[in-house]
Amino acid sequence: MYLLNTNTRFLHDEIINYSQNILSTLPAELCVLTLVNSGSEANDLALVMAKHYGKSNNMVCMETAYHGHVTACLEVSPYKWNKFLTKPETVTVIDSPC
Ligand SMILES: Cc1ncc(COP(=O)(O)O)c(C=O)c1O
Repeated sequence: MYLLNTNTRFLHDEIINYSQNILSTLPAELCVLTLVNSGSEANDLALVMAKHYGKSNNMVCMETAYHGHVTACLEVSPYKWNKFLTKPETVTVIDSPC
């Protein structure tokens, strides 16, 4: 941890070594690693990637979903909706599995 710099804007040999170590434990088709610092940031990035890949801003989430505390995550976290944060038109809510 002393040597690890997780800010990927400024490259450091140790983050590359660390990433290569992790990738060496994974199947070959999993060959890209993105390091983030929280669940919210991971989910925010996942939403960006899904929207780009799907060429759509539409999202589906479960009624009980929680995805984190950044704006993009709150938009797909129904229990966080209130008078300030309401359901976006691009979000469809489905029942949670029994
Ligand atoms: C399912 C789920 N997604 C996202 C988060 C947010 O993670 P973080 O607090 O690291 O931003 C949490 C945190 O409890 C979570 O349970």
